[in-house]
Formats: sequence, structure tokens, C-alpha cells
Amino acid sequence: MIASSLPRLGILVGPKGRGTNLRAIQEACAAGEVPAEIGLVVSPKADNPASLWSAEQGLAVRTIPPTEERYGEALAEALRDANVRWVCLAGYLRLLPAEVLEAFSDRVLNIHPALLPKFGGQGMYGLRVHEAVVAAGESESGCTVHRVTERYDEGQVLVQRRCPVLPDDTAETLAARVLEEEKRAYPEALRLVLRTDAPAKSL
Ligand code: GRF
Repeated sequence: MIASSLPRLGILVGPKGRGTNLRAIQEACAAGEVPAEIGLVVSPKADNPASLWSAEQGLAVRTIPPTEERYGEALAEALRDANVRWVCLAGYLRLLPAEVLEAFSDRVLNIHPALLPKFGGQGMYGLRVHEAVVAAGESESGCTVHRVTERYDEGQVLVQRRCPVLPDDTAETLAARVLEEEKRAYPEALRLVLRTDAPAKSL
């Protein structure tokens, strides 16, 4: 069997991991819209929707809880063992351990459900982001895919997609509209970075 030479993605989901972004990335890869393949999904829990869906799809899944001893090393090792070239955070809520940032330097991306640099930073995740956007009376919101650094929600912005905030929006209705944009934003950002990426060596 000839091994695929497509660059591999490692997707890091969060404890609640619904897997919306994960699915969007997988579908874009399967459709040939993103020239890559998912090499590993890492989740802190084995029973969240993202992990269950990944297992059903036959994707490699590792459960690595952050309470694990030498968590950073374990995470970096799992990604390296799976020959991952790009790491995508999708609902991952913590600062990424230094071991992973060092091993993957500027090849780690994150998606944030607002137009950074607004409404980002520590503690700004999930519905809290959309509550803040609605409370601030913004007329538009959206999502941002950016490179990951050692600080929350900083790093080079790669893609932003916008949507309106409607007068009667709640955090929930806005979150649903932003999520539709997220599904397009991650594949777009991956296409962008992969265009200039050195070809991965065949295995
Ligand atoms: C998304 O809203 C993303 O912007 C944020 O976490 C959420 C993950 O959702 N970083 P899902 O697990 O991809 O559905």
C-alpha cells in the first residue's frame, strides 16, 4: 500500500467537544477542498460528541486529560507519533503547553467565535463571547482563525468571516449564526497555510 503524502492534521477538541469544526475540516479534506488528512483527534474526554463521532468515522482518537502527568509532553508526543504537521484547536480552552508550541512552532491554529482582537482573551469562550457581543450592542460579529502563541487569542490572523448581529439576537441565536461561518473559516484558513507549506515527505 502506498502511504498518503498529504500533510496530517491533529485536531484538539475541548471537554464538551461538539465537533462542528472537526466535521467541517474532515468534510473539506474528504471533498479534496483542503489538501490534508486528519491524522489524530485529541480530546480530554472519551465520551464527548467529538470523540464518539471520530471513532465512528474510523479516525485515530486519543484521550489525554490535562490532569495527566507530563501532559504537555504526552500531547506533543501523541501528535508527533501520528506524523501530524498542523495542529488545529477546535474548542480547546486552555493555553497550549509549551512542548506543543515548540514542536509545532507556527503550525498551530485556533478558531475563536468573534472578530479578534475584540472579545478575546482569558475566560472569553463559548456563550460568554456572544453575551459580551450582544451586551456591547455590536452590529456585526463573526469568527477568527489565527496562529496560536503562548497568550490567549493572540497571534497572526489568517481568516475572519463576518455576520450581522440582529436587534433581537440572544447569545444563543448569535452563536448559531457565527457557527455557520466557523464551518467555512477553518477550511479556508487551512487552504491558505497549506498553499505555502513545504510538501510533506512521503512516509
Ligand atoms: C467553537 O465555537 C469555536 O469557535 C470555539 O469553540 C467552539 C467549538 O465548537 N473555539 P465545536 O466543538 O467545533 O462544535
